[in-house]
Amino acid sequence: MDIAVAGAGYVGLVTAACLAEKGHKVACVDVDAGKVALLQSGKSPIYEPGLEELLKKNRERLWFTTDNAAAYRRADVIIIAVGTPEESDGSVNLRYVWEAAKQIAETAEKDCVVAVKSTVPVGTGDQVERWINENRENPVHIEVVANPEFLSQGTAVKDTLHASRIVLGVESPRAEKVMKEVYDPFALPYVVTDRKSAEMVKYASNVFLALKISYINEIANLCEMVGANIEDVAKGMGMDPRIGGRFCAPASDMAARVSRKIRKHCVGLRPVAIMN
Ligand SMILES: NC(=O)c1ccc[n+]([C@@H]2O[C@H](COP(=O)([O-])OP(=O)(O)OC[C@H]3O[C@@H](n4cnc5c(N)ncnc54)[C@H](O)[C@@H]3O)[C@@H](O)[C@H]2O)c1
Repeated sequence: MDIAVAGAGYVGLVTAACLAEKGHKVACVDVDAGKVALLQSGKSPIYEPGLEELLKKNRERLWFTTDNAAAYRRADVIIIAVGTPEESDGSVNLRYVWEAAKQIAETAEKDCVVAVKSTVPVGTGDQVERWINENRENPVHIEVVANPEFLSQGTAVKDTLHASRIVLGVESPRAEKVMKEVYDPFALPYVVTDRKSAEMVKYASNVFLALKISYINEIANLCEMVGANIEDVAKGMGMDPRIGGRFCAPASDMAARVSRKIRKHCVGLRPVAIMN
């Protein structure tokens, strides 16, 4: 398939490289000309184990450009993987998602599916689909799918090639069929649901992981008070398969970083943001 990925950051670049590895023809678009030039020269702007090898190996199927029209014009699927930074009031800034949507509306010349991989508040997919179809330049049919991402930095390639699940939020059998053509070569389990439920899976997962970290930090405080060893307590709890050992260790630098990042992405969970 011809796939375009909007955004060559952690998620976009790793996704693009892994899709090319699975045989798709992938155009990875970024507005950052410096980043694109580096990628065109065969270097990665980020370090992720296995990424440079994938970029080298799949050079013939993977190209990088700032020219969004050239990439979106002929794509069967366009994956939006742009950043969703935090606003000063704590809400999610969707400016880059809307910019990508606008570029797609202006340039798509054939029927395609737009998959939103960026982490967005519930309901965003509905709004993006409505807006694109009301504002598109050409008489094409464009459907939006919610396709949240769960990779972690540091293990992004492995997390993508061997993901625990592919979540697809679709509103039509056609969109489901197209997205399965994208992901079938990965041979991973699917969770297929409607768009809003898929968006909620991402937020609910982030909140749950943040909860786990916060909980074990509270237990660490309690351990300090009573003279218990938190490392052993966490190990003893984590070996229970119902609890699980991951995200069940007292806040190391890494856990604190993950926790901060997760909390950031949870901001949109306020009921008003969910409905908007
Ligand atoms: N990084 C992670 O670990 C992780 C994990 C899961 C989900 N996510 C989510 O995925 C999304 C992307 O995250 P990231 O870490 O890859 O972000 P990032 O900031 O590393 O990359 C975003 C890229 O998008 C580019 N961009 C901005 N506007 C563009 C446009 N109109 N067209 C093309 N490119 C454009 C930027 O130049 C940048 O290179 C966010 O919503 C994030 O919350 C991230």
